[in-house]
Amino acid sequence: MVIKEMSKMIEEFANNVDAGLSQSEKTLPSKYFYDEKGDALFIEIMAMPEYYLTRCEMEIFSTQTRALIESFQADKNVYFELIELGAGDGSKTRKLLEALSQEGYQFDYMPVDISKNALDQLEQSLQQSLPQVSVLPKHGDYFDMLGSVKDSHHPKIVLFLGSNIGNMTDAIASEFLYQLGANLSKNDKLLLGTDLIKSADIVLPAYNDESGITHAFNMNLLHRMNVELGATFDLNGFEHAPEYCEQEGIAKSFLLSNCVQSVEIEATGKTYHFEVGEKIHTETSRKYSDEIISDLLLKTDFLVAAKFTDKNNYYADYLLHRN
Ligand code: AVJ
Repeated sequence: MVIKEMSKMIEEFANNVDAGLSQSEKTLPSKYFYDEKGDALFIEIMAMPEYYLTRCEMEIFSTQTRALIESFQADKNVYFELIELGAGDGSKTRKLLEALSQEGYQFDYMPVDISKNALDQLEQSLQQSLPQVSVLPKHGDYFDMLGSVKDSHHPKIVLFLGSNIGNMTDAIASEFLYQLGANLSKNDKLLLGTDLIKSADIVLPAYNDESGITHAFNMNLLHRMNVELGATFDLNGFEHAPEYCEQEGIAKSFLLSNCVQSVEIEATGKTYHFEVGEKIHTETSRKYSDEIISDLLLKTDFLVAAKFTDKNNYYADYLLHRN
């Protein structure tokens, strides 16, 4: 794991922002949602009545714990690494950690997250509630961690939950899964949490809640650029504008400029111009089907070995086997 210094991270943030805002269709990487404020807002999002994803995956983890563990095909006498990509507050994983340690499996839990703050909180709360589980946190983004995965030769079970993969385009997701597979060994496992394609009346409210938490989450990206990059975004000049295309199964979040305006960013040394109604694409939340999953896996070394769904069939955890 590369631990990047602060100045390096700011520089990378500035470069990513400049690249995104210099395109004709402006865009910003969603990984920058997760500063301290963003982490807290995302925890609120997971508890919203409209945000069914977390509850569905929680249902799977609490009612099918045994079947999930069996699907790992782990040997109680052989140490393995349980790696979680984008662990966040680890609320679903807790069920699994509890059961695995109760049943006498030997493993270290290695949560990877882009947010140092989220990792610190997770480590602390696990220390409290499950002191018998050894936690080795790694700070960085998903791509950063790929190299460090292959440094160890223990069996691995990778958790990529919460439909976090949905933030990637299909091309990037399939490249990422290919790379992940290339860094794992035969018989390693990947548990992939995915939100399933369903109608707009269910999906859209999850990204456009009544209480305005998702609005605040999206706007926080502008606030963060103001604070960390010396930007001059007027938060009243933008609105949260989510969309969902049921046919494609893709939800997108935008920040929509409600006036003609220019924004300076000190860290990039540039001024960016916005028309009325011009949008910044801030997030893609892809929804899946068996067909889309098998297409993503085509060029990878993974095969679907099992599928776990909630009772409404809104959400699926696919257990993938590294060939
Ligand atoms: C954490 C990426 C799965 O896309 O549903 C929630 C993030 N964004 N509401 C998602 C999110 C707005 C979430 N993921």
